[in-house]
Amino acid sequence: MATVEIIRITGGEKLEGEVSVSGGKNAALAIVPAALLARDCCVIENLPQIEDVHVMTDMLRALGAKVTHEGHTMHIDPTGVDKFQAPYDLARKMRASYYLVPVLMGLFGRAEVPMPGGCDIGARPIDYSIRGWEQLGAEVSTERGWISVKAEHLRGSDVSLDFPSVGATVNIMLTAVLAEGNTTIFNAAKEPHIVDLANFLGSLGAWIKGAGTDVIRIRGGRKLHGSTYTVVPDQIETGTLMIAAAATGGDVVIRDAIPYHMEALSAKLLEMGVHVTDDEDLIHVKGAPSYRSINVRTQVYPGFPTDLQQPMTTLLTTAKGTSMITETIYESRFRFVDELRRMGAKVKVIDRVAVVEGAERLTGAPVNATDLRAGSAMLVAGLMADGVTDISGVQFIRRGYENIEKKLLSLGAKIETELREKD
Ligand code: UD1
Repeated sequence: MATVEIIRITGGEKLEGEVSVSGGKNAALAIVPAALLARDCCVIENLPQIEDVHVMTDMLRALGAKVTHEGHTMHIDPTGVDKFQAPYDLARKMRASYYLVPVLMGLFGRAEVPMPGGCDIGARPIDYSIRGWEQLGAEVSTERGWISVKAEHLRGSDVSLDFPSVGATVNIMLTAVLAEGNTTIFNAAKEPHIVDLANFLGSLGAWIKGAGTDVIRIRGGRKLHGSTYTVVPDQIETGTLMIAAAATGGDVVIRDAIPYHMEALSAKLLEMGVHVTDDEDLIHVKGAPSYRSINVRTQVYPGFPTDLQQPMTTLLTTAKGTSMITETIYESRFRFVDELRRMGAKVKVIDRVAVVEGAERLTGAPVNATDLRAGSAMLVAGLMADGVTDISGVQFIRRGYENIEKKLLSLGAKIETELREKD
């Protein structure tokens, strides 16, 4: 009989104590495939132990790389990579699999990678990446669910993005480091994981300037060597823990974080009445018995991250007054509010705006995580609610949060996992 994992939370406990943030998921998912561009072994430290990293690792192995993974450290020896086609079933599991396109193209002059999968949070086209690859000299076709690229000769070029897309910026950076000549990416994404990828590529000997600003310049064609590199802390896990601490009126010190990456969230939490202070690599969140309603608008970095919109909306379900949350990045990122309503939240969604009337309290219920960050929203909801919340769809949470129930348990949450027989 098949089983399904459930996370059960008995809500109402204040989170208290100290917790450490793991390495960044989105940084890791760009850095691990990028390691294949080096001519010898890379050692990547502080990798989060999450399902998406495991899938990426399996893809590298299927391509011929020798990968050993111990704790949070991975050794990647790319010398045996001998295939330019990514494995279909693994690649379909996540969005970041298409970072293998520029990597395999750089190694073999061609690549075949399934159209990427990932969370179902709205249209996730790849047209900016395709245009970028073409501008750097690749021929690209997308037929029968595969991206096929061929490049006789990759050469640097100016690429101007219509929107500062994370995926397109990663894909163009990865193409440009091996292309001959100079590439400039205009309107580049500025997220912390972009900077981290640039730092990693720099550690391999690539010449990249401007990551973290709108304009990234790359001098391509350098031979890349192995390096040892430590992945940046996860911005979204940090934010999820900050929101969870606030949601329970708790008192939590979050360690191994980068407070600077959290400015947009910290500003919103302060506006609601949460106490947030920071010092070097720690953030201290002290909750209050009640909060003010606020308005939130998701934006690209350094704006409020779309990946924290769902837990933030959840936190606002019991704030006093009416909050408006505008989702500008993904049009379908409000599906999870149906689950919040089952717990007593008063939320209306009008187009891309969620209007939240603060309720007295949430009450526990069986709920489903419909995607990764909906999963973090359900965790926050369960921690806030009176009574028991059973969360299904745990496989989504496993994709992006390392040991989250252990971390919450260590802060005093009543949380356990259970395997149930599937109907
Ligand atoms: C990455 C993150 C994801 C995060 C998102 C926004 C990874 C593995 N995932 O996703 O967690 O939610 O950034 O911060 O790093 N778009 C196009 N055409 C394209 C590319 C994007 O129209 O070719 C649009 C998308 O539909 C979306 C917006 O641009 O509306 C942002 O997408 P993008 O920044 O590319 O997100 P991802 O890289 O997919």
